[in-house]
Parts: sequence; C-alpha cells; structure tokens
Amino acid sequence: MNLPQHIAVIMDGNGRWAKKRLMPRMMGHRKGSENLKKLINDCDRLGLEHITFYAFSTENWKRSQEEVKNLMDLLREYLNDHIKNEKDNNFKIDFIGDMSRLDEDIREKMIIVRQLYSTHKGIFVHIAMNYGSRDEIRRAVVDIANEIKSGELEPDDITEELISQHLDTKNYPDPELLIRTSGEMRLSNFLMWQLAYSEFYFSDKLWPDFRVDDLIEAVNEYNSRDRRFGGRNEVN
Ligand code: IPE
Ligand code: IPE
Ligand code: MG
Repeated sequence: MNLPQHIAVIMDGNGRWAKKRLMPRMMGHRKGSENLKKLINDCDRLGLEHITFYAFSTENWKRSQEEVKNLMDLLREYLNDHIKNEKDNNFKIDFIGDMSRLDEDIREKMIIVRQLYSTHKGIFVHIAMNYGSRDEIRRAVVDIANEIKSGELEPDDITEELISQHLDTKNYPDPELLIRTSGEMRLSNFLMWQLAYSEFYFSDKLWPDFRVDDLIEAVNEYNSRDRRFGGRNEVN
C-alpha cells in the first residue's frame, strides 16, 4: 500500500452516534475521543507520517453552553491522560488553531503535552482546536501586514510559499487525502488553503465507528485516483 505522507480527518457524527442509541450527545463525544486515541496508535503502526484531526471548529462555539463545556472538559481529560501515559505513547503531537480563546489551564496542558511528546519517534499528530481556515488565513494576513509595516517585507515578497509559511501548518506538507465521516460532504472551514489539490473521501460511518480498516479503504481509493494537478498524465 502506497501511504500518503499526510492525511486530514474531519471527525463528524458523534451526536448522531449517541442519538441512535438514545444517549446524551456527550456519550458520542466520549466514544469519539476513545476512538481517536485508538486510531492514532493504529495509524502509527501503519507507518503514516502526519495526520491532522478536526476536533473543534471556530464555529462550534455556537453550540449550547453545556455542550461546549462538555467538549472542553473532555479535552482536559484527553490532555491529562496524555501527560500521565506519556511513556506508553510513541507519537508526536501538536495543535493548530487559535489557542487564545481557550482556557488558560487547557493552553498550559497543550504546551506540556507538545513538549513531552516532542522527542517521540512515531507519527506526528496535529489536533485542530478552535480552528477555522478563514480565521487561520486572517491571522496570517495580519502577521504579513505587520512584517510589511515594520519594513521586514515588501508587498512583492508575498508569494504562495510565503503565505503557506504564515499558516499554522507551516512545518509540514499539505494533506494528500481528506477523509470526512458521517456522510456530510463539505469542508466546514477546514484547511481550505492546504486542501487545494487533495483527494476527498467521504465515509458514511459515524466517527465513533470509524476504524483503521476504514482508513485503509480510503487510502486504497486514494491510490486508484488519477491526480493531475491541472496537467495531464497520459500522452495521447
Ligand atoms: C463531531 O461530531 C464533533 C464535533 C464537531 C465537536 P458532531 O457533534 O458534529 O456530531 P453530529 O454531526 O451532530 O452527529
Ligand atoms: C466540523 O463538524 C467540525 C468538526 C468535526 C470539529 P461540524 O459538525 O461542526 O460541521 P457542520 O456544522 O455539520 O458543517
Ligand atoms: Mg457534525
């Protein structure tokens, strides 16, 4: 199997998973979080280099206060678990998105986890938390504008590469493959710049039910696609 270097995943359908079982939405999020932990270890064993998971969008603050609080508490738990069990995990981890709106204790835990895991040798996991593609591009534009104002840059220096270098994903390659679960076929403000030429794969499985075998099926489908990047692969 020819593995992409980087896969991006929109983990969707936790609420519907719970609803189907007449459970509160929170149970779906909890199952989703457990599934994330398991899938990361399975992907590490596969030998994947990078994987980015969409965990909370800049639009998800619109949900009820209760659901937002539950999601933040689940994130706290997730981070504490990573701090406690660092020795059992082989992956590296970091976070993309605007951390400034998150509670201070969460931000501190994120910094600790990133630091603790930085010497690991396995897959690099990127978690998108309070992430929105439009917000990420806005933040990049503000940074570039400030560099022009201070005389570090000229407007003519703004290339596509320079813009990429001001995004949260600056240190790693764009995803070759995007997977979204739960049958929804939209980006919901995820990595719009980085996914310009990625292959899209939509699974009907709800996120808590999505396993590494489903991911392998997506990779097989990806391998059967003819990626042209606007050019032509066949001469005739
Ligand atoms: C994805 O599951 C998790 C987050 C967006 C935080 P949802 O909560 O969106 O589940 P559905 O789409 O309502 O089923
Ligand atoms: C996208 O899912 C965000 C995450 C998975 C974190 P949503 O459930 O928020 O997206 P919409 O509202 O269906 O577009
Ligand atoms: Mg959803």
